[in-house]
Amino acid sequence: MSEKRILLIIGGGIAAFKALLLIRLLAKRGVKTSTVITKAGEEFVTPLSVGGLSGEKVYTDLFSLSDEQEMGHIELSRSADLVVVVPATADLMAKAARGLANDLASTTLLATDKRVLYAPAMNVRMWEHPATKRNIETLRENHALFVGPEEGDMACGEFGFGRMAEPETIVEAIEKILAGKTHLDDLALKPLKDKHILITAGPTREPIDPVRYLSNHSSGKQGYAIARACERLGAKVTLVSGPVAIAPPSGVDMVQVETAREMLTACESALPADVFISVAAVADWRPKTNTDKKIKKDKQELQPLALSENPDILRTIANGENRPGLVIGFAAETDNVLNHAKAKLAKKKCDWIVANDVSGDVMGGDNNTMIIVTKDGADEWSLMSKQDAAHKLALKIVETVA
Ligand code: CTP
Repeated sequence: MSEKRILLIIGGGIAAFKALLLIRLLAKRGVKTSTVITKAGEEFVTPLSVGGLSGEKVYTDLFSLSDEQEMGHIELSRSADLVVVVPATADLMAKAARGLANDLASTTLLATDKRVLYAPAMNVRMWEHPATKRNIETLRENHALFVGPEEGDMACGEFGFGRMAEPETIVEAIEKILAGKTHLDDLALKPLKDKHILITAGPTREPIDPVRYLSNHSSGKQGYAIARACERLGAKVTLVSGPVAIAPPSGVDMVQVETAREMLTACESALPADVFISVAAVADWRPKTNTDKKIKKDKQELQPLALSENPDILRTIANGENRPGLVIGFAAETDNVLNHAKAKLAKKKCDWIVANDVSGDVMGGDNNTMIIVTKDGADEWSLMSKQDAAHKLALKIVETVA
């Protein structure tokens, strides 16, 4: 990418600060960045900070005589190899879709003869509004390219689509476009295309009789979020799930099961896969007694409840003939988290173990702290929402298998 030049347009949104990181990432790859900041963008980042990082002049004003004498807006819009809008606000995209040209950013977008990559960022309601959808369609018809937005927690406190793609993802998209891959499927949006990812999630339920069962507190939220994140990155996802109270993610092949043995059979039938992610909280034991008649209180069969050990699904798949190239286990621990996780990595022959401290409200809660344990060491991620953790894990999978 060296010797390439990007014209970066920074719009007015809370995600504007990520444009600074983007400039640094591009500079590391030898890419030069000219920058236009909108008036609203200047509320979030200053020309001084942008210029300091890019080492280049920053343009803000359509009617600046000195700027026009040095480099007119037409030349500015054409001197780059690619125009990148970060963050692409609803307002900027609406202007570009309509062909408005009442400030330097919109004039540049209208005057350029280069491809434009938008990294949208806005509140989920604004993103889902029919007006925004229409504008995006118009921009696509005009050969614009998009990276993101992602699903996640937003600065406004809501959850959904509208979070700007991470700077690393935007750089990946830029690299692909500059390499001549401008078809949408070639962008960083679908790096897991052609990969089959098999995921287990939720608890299993081991019947004692027709009305009672053994199970655990797993909500399925983390496994479902990982399935959604992998699907969004283009993977074919098979989600084998125990009973949970959340809706199946769209675009994912769902297999609903109850018991550990059913879960194992479903997983084995879904192979081959490129990646296996074992998120389910599989019940380790099942009652020996599973009668089709309700056990009466005065009967002694449940005292004590005799148990048989369930198959270890992760260990079976990791040691099987059809072993996926990347096998990821989870380790729910309440103490000595790292040591238990390392022991499970070896015992179950996985490539990674994602360790969770479940002594707090992780099980059933909305947030998670993950420690990614591999044979090379451990990487502890800070506390984040299960959606963000899922996305981060999916991007790590991309680095390994895509
Ligand atoms: N696992 C599995 N089948 C089982 C038990 C666990 O596939 N019968 C998987 C889980 O999905 C998880 C990993 O193994 O990816 C570790 O699960 P965990 O419950 O933390 O560990 P256990 O092996 O059950 O060991 P222990 O309960 O002693 O910690």
